[in-house]
Amino acid sequence: MKKSNLLMAILAGTILLTGGQAMAGKSSVELGKKLFNDPTLGGSTNDKSCNSCHAGGEGLENAADNKKLVKVINQCITGPLKGKKIDGRTAEMRSLKMYINTLQAK
Ligand code: HEC
Repeated sequence: MKKSNLLMAILAGTILLTGGQAMAGKSSVELGKKLFNDPTLGGSTNDKSCNSCHAGGEGLENAADNKKLVKVINQCITGPLKGKKIDGRTAEMRSLKMYINTLQAK
């Protein structure tokens, strides 16, 4: 392999790696809770947040078991919030899921 090709390969690899990390981001329950109460989630322009309907997470005690959790969250984002779908791999979506996990009935 030519030296310049090797450099290109390393560069491409680095971009892929850092891109993946940006996608992974830092997810946390705290961020999830913040987003749950954020009326601008998903670029939402009305004044609704998840908390408007699921106050304090009420009614979502069994949601963590939902196999289509990302899909239903996105339905609530594109529906009532009038926002845009959030990719399941982003820190935002993973944090929302982490927060919803804490709501599980004990
Ligand atoms: C306009 C009211 C409204 C808003 C705002 C709303 N939801 Fe919902 N959501 C509902 C309704 C109605 C359902 C279906 C009935 C149910 O399960 O409570 C539902 C269902 C869900 C479910 C499935 C529950 C289960 O047990 O599987 C999840 C998870 C959920 N919403 C999360 C969210 C999140 C996260 C947000 C913010 C992005 C949000 N919702 C915003 C009304 C809303």
